[in-house]
Amino acid sequence: MKLGSARYALLFFLLGCNASPSDDPKEDSPCVARSPTSGLYFDLSAISLSPPELKKGKKVSPDAREQSWHSKGHDYGANFTMNICAPVIEDVKDVVGVDSARWKNVSAYYKKDGKTYSIGEQASDPFFRGRKLVLNYTNGSPCSEESAAGSGNSSIRTKSTLMTFLCDRDAIPDQATPSFVGTMDSCTYFFEVRSSAACGGLASDPHGKGLGPGGVFGVIILIAVAAYFVGGCAYQRTVMHQRGWRQCPNFSLWAGMFDFVKGFGCKTSGFTDGLSSL
Ligand SMILES: *[C@@H]1O[C@H](CO)[C@@H](O)[C@H](O)[C@H]1NC(C)=O
Ligand SMILES: *[C@@H]1O[C@H](CO)[C@@H](O)[C@H](O)[C@H]1NC(C)=O
Ligand SMILES: *[C@@H]1O[C@H](CO)[C@@H](O)[C@H](O)[C@H]1NC(C)=O
Ligand SMILES: *[C@@H]1O[C@H](CO)[C@@H](O)[C@H](O)[C@H]1NC(C)=O
Repeated sequence: MKLGSARYALLFFLLGCNASPSDDPKEDSPCVARSPTSGLYFDLSAISLSPPELKKGKKVSPDAREQSWHSKGHDYGANFTMNICAPVIEDVKDVVGVDSARWKNVSAYYKKDGKTYSIGEQASDPFFRGRKLVLNYTNGSPCSEESAAGSGNSSIRTKSTLMTFLCDRDAIPDQATPSFVGTMDSCTYFFEVRSSAACGGLASDPHGKGLGPGGVFGVIILIAVAAYFVGGCAYQRTVMHQRGWRQCPNFSLWAGMFDFVKGFGCKTSGFTDGLSSL
């Protein structure tokens, strides 16, 4: 039993001294969704473009895009411009049937016959419908041209957008490729968005690329340490016929080392105290 608790103490010691401040994205943080089936986190904020902030001041990043994502309309007769979880970067004006106060909230639009139509306002909570990662925008321009004039009528149906995300591991990182699927009655618009941001990742890695090199290295070290102790104890016990603490490989070396580390203020209380009471 004593040996067992000492092993836990060692484990806590290793983890405690290596632990970095965790920055797990919460399920309710903007533009992040957690898959109920795989438990993975999907952080779309990497493909959520922010405007090249105030060109006179500091730029967000040197390669910040100047344009939102584009999607060809093909037979629809107009191309679409959209952003993920955020309003489009472009300055949209004179949006059909939308108050000027909400022009800056337009997240997807198209231009036809010189007019700008909004197909949805900013929403930043993607969610899972079964295995599909879905994001929708609502409150766009009125669906039918006639009702566009009476924009105060709340019973008017407005254009909306529904998009699903597909994981594309071969895509350029932090890029999104929306493809227009179709529209019913020019009221709801469907898109499929391919991106590496839609591949999901562990909670400890908000960028969805799984364990980083550091994490993999840490896991290998932990396995090596575990193998060292399990193998060492088996050897000391069966071949050397040691019992108790003496089973531990290089026991005296480790005991000395922990006392040394303790001098550096790393909390090993409990373990070294336990050792000295042996
Ligand atoms: C849509 O964009 C393509 C190029 O990406 C262009 O050739 C085409 O004329 C555009 N269509 C409209 C309706 O603007
Ligand atoms: C529009 O966007 C602003 C932030 O830019 C936000 O504060 C406001 O609530 C949004 N309006 C609507 C109707 O969503
Ligand atoms: C649109 O998204 C909201 C959450 O942002 C959700 O509550 C609603 O059910 C969605 N609507 C559709 C039609 O998927
Ligand atoms: C809103 O529009 C509907 C039909 O589009 C109409 O029946 C209704 O009277 C309108 N309401 C107002 C307040 O204009």
